[in-house]
Parts: sequence; structure tokens; C-alpha cells
Amino acid sequence: MKIDSILFTPVKIGKLEVPNRFVRSATHDFMANRDGSVSDRQVALFETLARGGVGLIITGHAYVNTSGIASPYQTGADKDELIDGLSRITKVVHKNPSCIFLQLSHAGRQTTPKICGCTPFAPSAVYEPTFKVMPKEMSQKNIRDLIHDFSQAGRRAKQAGFDGVQLHVAHGYLLSSFISPYTNRRSDEWGGSLSNRLRIVGEIIEGTKGSTGKDFPLIVKLNSEDFLSEGLGIDESIEIAKILEKKGVDGIEVSGGMAEAGKGSVWKGLREEDKEGYFVDNASKIKQAVTIPVFGLGGIRTFSVMEKIIEEGKADLVSMSRAFIRDPFLVKKFRDGEIQKSECISCNRCFNLRGISCADLKK
Ligand SMILES: Cc1cc2nc3c(=O)[nH]c(=O)nc-3n(C[C@H](O)[C@H](O)[C@H](O)COP(=O)(O)O)c2cc1C
Ligand code: SF4
Repeated sequence: MKIDSILFTPVKIGKLEVPNRFVRSATHDFMANRDGSVSDRQVALFETLARGGVGLIITGHAYVNTSGIASPYQTGADKDELIDGLSRITKVVHKNPSCIFLQLSHAGRQTTPKICGCTPFAPSAVYEPTFKVMPKEMSQKNIRDLIHDFSQAGRRAKQAGFDGVQLHVAHGYLLSSFISPYTNRRSDEWGGSLSNRLRIVGEIIEGTKGSTGKDFPLIVKLNSEDFLSEGLGIDESIEIAKILEKKGVDGIEVSGGMAEAGKGSVWKGLREEDKEGYFVDNASKIKQAVTIPVFGLGGIRTFSVMEKIIEEGKADLVSMSRAFIRDPFLVKKFRDGEIQKSECISCNRCFNLRGISCADLKK
């Protein structure tokens, strides 16, 4: 029996129609080849997710410059030679109704010299205690180059057949560290006031829309809270969301956390149903301030919770990562009437340098 639900109604992101409300939120799969090119395993992974009926698939964070590599086996978007490999992913996904966005990122100070091959970059030289890194404060030239790198990576995404891009402005990575008053201590036009801290993101949006055309969907994954006393909080992120909408952003996925806060974005442990969606309250506050689609996420596992998030207007789409590592066919099962809760127990043992997989399933 096919299930009829608001979750299976289409939604528009800019001019793009996404067939349902399910999003596979960006998930670094640790499966790219060592040079950042797309591997056969990744093609198979994305094909499976599309066959499983996910409306919008967002890739793992792809680096726009090797200085921003966060981990080995990460996908690259920094060179034209990578476009052919990236297009293998979009071709298999588009055999199904699913849409797919490339997440563009730079790790900033959340990496190590060994991984990225240089002294990690940051808006300011603020020590990062989890990676034990004292980053290099970016020069004006570094900032200009980075804006160019993001916009060129956006062009590559479009050439490779992606339906849009997502800028990673969350979790303490470089763009998130620019908008955070804790990690951005600059006194020039790139720091200080909220509009100065957001300037780099605004210029990247402009540059990317310039290289892709303004109708190519561009969404942002936004930190709504850093969980640091001097960091970004929800009041400022609401203001940021309003500015992003004015700048032409087509949707906002609301997340939070930073490694050094001891509270990241991937919370461990199963939650009661009424506590699923640990960033959905923040998404709901942001949704009240903008008219573009808002994505809610954070430990969502239960069909009725997903329905309620959309029906109560807290968000327009529901994003999940681990539930799709556990079972990439979750949406198809829901559609076919199997609406039991995702079996993911949020143990976080899927983070695996040899490629994500559900360790709990194999026990
Ligand atoms: C293995 C793994 C890799 C992830 N990689 C990324 C990433 O590349 N970019 C990103 O924005 N979030 C990443 N996330 C965070 C997820 O997108 C999501 O925000 C978070 O896991 C909470 O959702 P969930 O409870 O449905 O897993 C990752 C999460 C997991 C489990
Ligand atoms: S290992 Fe499996 S059960 Fe544990 S968080 Fe990952 S997907 Fe969920």
C-alpha cells in the first residue's frame, strides 16, 4: 500500500522541483580516490541513494582548494580534471527522479598540516585545540583567491551536471569560522560587525552565481549556534539567514556545533521522539524570518516526527545522514507503507576512514 503524506509532495528550491521532502544531508563518505577524484564506490553509493527515493541528495563536503582538505579520501572540486568523475555521479542519480547538489567546502583550521599540506587557514590566528593547530590569518589575497576557488568549484558542479550547490557555512569549517565572532577577530572589512563577518559568504554567493548563472540553485548549510560562549548564537544566525535570502540564496539547511565546543553536529545516542530534530527548533526560528525553503535536521528517525516537522511549518524539508547510512532505501520503504522508525541507533561508528558503513548492522 502506497502511503499518502505531505512528505511525498514536491517542493521548489529556486526553480528546481525536488520530488519529495527527504534530503540526504551532506555526508563525507571517505570513499574518493586519494587524488580527490570520484571512485566507483562513490558512484555506486549515490546510485543506491537515488534508487532508494531520496528527493535531494547532498554530497559530502568537497574541497575547493587543497589547502582546505579535511580528511583523506575526500572528494575534490578544485580542478577541471575532476569534472568527468563528478559527472559519473550525476548521471547515475539522474536515472531516477532524485536531485543532487555538490557541497562546497574549505576545512579552514579544522584540519592539520599533514592532511592539507600547508599551515591551515583561518580568518584569525585563533588556536584550534582539537586539531592542535595554530592557523595562519588569511591575507587579503588569500581571501580573494578563496572567493575565486568557490566560484570556480560552483562552475565545475554545474558542468558536471549537479542540480545545485550547497555552501558549507557550518561546523567550524572556514566559512563558519568567518561568521563566528569567536574565531573571526579581524578588524578589517572581513571581521567585526555581523555584515563584515558575512562579507566573504556574500562575495562567494555573488561569484558562484556569476559563474553558474543566477538560476542555478545555491543553498547554504548554516551554523545556527557554535555552542561556545563567545561564538555565534541563534539571534545572529536569524539575521544572517535574512541577509542570505536577500543575496539570492535558494534555501537554508540549519545545523550547528563546532569541534572545539565539545558539541559538534552529529550527536550520539538515541533520543525520545519529542527530542528528535535537535536543530529543528532553530530551523523553525529561521523559517519564521525567511520565505525560502528551510531544511530541518538532527537525529530525525521517526516518520510521524518528519511529517509533523513539515505539517507544523517548522521546516520545508527533512534532512538525515545516518538514517541513510543505515538504510539507503528508507524513503522507498516509507512510500511502500513500511513506516517503522529508522533502525539507526546514533552510535556514530559509521565514521570510517575506509568508507562509511553501518557498523551496527554488521555486528
Ligand atoms: C559520516 C558522516 C559524515 C558527515 N559529513 C558531513 C559533511 O561532509 N558535510 C556536512 O555538512 N555535514 C556532514 N555530516 C553531518 C550530517 O550532514 C548531519 O548534519 C548530522 O549527521 C545530523 O544528522 P543525522 O542525525 O541525521 O545524522 C556528516 C555526518 C556523518 C554521520
Ligand atoms: S553505525 Fe549504523 S547505527 Fe551507528 S550511527 Fe552509523 S548508521 Fe547509525
